[in-house]
Amino acid sequence: MDAITFRSDTVLSDIHLLQANTRHLMVRLNAVGQPVFVSQFKEEEEEEEEEGEDGRPQSRGLEPLLDEDGDLDVVRRPRGGDAPGRDRIYPIILSKGEEAASDGDELEESDRGVIRIEHTMATPLEDVGKQVWRGAFLMADFILSHRDQFQDCTVLELGAGTGVTSIVMATVAKRVYCTDVGQDLLSMCERNVALNKHILESADGDVKVCELDWMRDDFCTDPEVEFSWTEDEVADLHDNTTVLIAADVCYDDDLTDGLFRTLYRIMSNLRHPCTLYFSIEKRLNFTLQHMDVSCEAYDHFRACLSDLKNITDGKTIFTVEPVQLCFPQFLIYERIKQLELWKITSSHPDQMKATPAM
Ligand SMILES: C[S@@+](CC[C@H](N)C(=O)[O-])C[C@H]1O[C@@H](n2cnc3c(N)ncnc32)[C@H](O)[C@@H]1O
Repeated sequence: MDAITFRSDTVLSDIHLLQANTRHLMVRLNAVGQPVFVSQFKEEEEEEEEEGEDGRPQSRGLEPLLDEDGDLDVVRRPRGGDAPGRDRIYPIILSKGEEAASDGDELEESDRGVIRIEHTMATPLEDVGKQVWRGAFLMADFILSHRDQFQDCTVLELGAGTGVTSIVMATVAKRVYCTDVGQDLLSMCERNVALNKHILESADGDVKVCELDWMRDDFCTDPEVEFSWTEDEVADLHDNTTVLIAADVCYDDDLTDGLFRTLYRIMSNLRHPCTLYFSIEKRLNFTLQHMDVSCEAYDHFRACLSDLKNITDGKTIFTVEPVQLCFPQFLIYERIKQLELWKITSSHPDQMKATPAM
């Protein structure tokens, strides 16, 4: 674990770069290898209503901030590490190492509403799920801004990584199937669910961590395999799921193809019509092939969306639309213009329009 394992394909999620003292973060990480960190992510709290210069009340918290013309006043990222009049910004790295992974029994009052996540920083591409990505926060913000829509739902998350978005979703939804691939990653994800059990218990939400590999055509139900599905879970998923989410999961074209095959298979077999939300960051890369900047993974994602919309299997109808990012920001990260959210709906004549039994 402590060996230096950085290679040319090492990638670093930007989410900790808003902290103070992030200069040379990559260099410092390089020196220590890939330890496990625990960070806390805090939902911004609603602040007292203040009076603006024009005498109008200004809500500085959960409501989107509007200027006098009614345009969205984008919240700038805090400079210098601290936002004035607020707690220190989050995420904050709490600790490094084993002692961090306590089960959260002895909680301080100030810990309420704080999500703690075990993760690594700067990984090779095959371990990207062990980092937290901006798309996870964008999705979390969307969930927190649309609580009514997800209240008491059964939700499937694909490519959940550390599980942070599933945990946020479970503060609203009834049950979340939090899925990814690989025993190591799924174990980390399960530890994160345990670290946040205080939040989940008080919200009455349930997170089930299961393996769902986009490169397979089925659910693994072998009881000998860790994180496999029980037959009851597979049935519950099909009978009750109405929402699917996937945050920052399109970065390799073969995987994206597998993901879309999986989505088509699952969404066509659900008992109820469903809505899928995708968050994606349009990453620009210079390629020698094009001798220019391009965003191939994003372009491939858009092509897959078009293919889905154009499916004519005589059964399932898919709709695809972008979601405007005009919902409030609850978590601290840079909502850069390359971040996007997409909404896909699916329905077919055999599906029951009624809300699933709670
Ligand atoms: C960039 S990470 C995003 C993780 C998390 N959603 C987030 O935003 O922080 C992409 C995720 O896709 C998962 N993934 C890659 N290949 C997969 C596969 N074949 N089946 C399921 N998940 C896969 C990775 O393990 C990883 O967790």
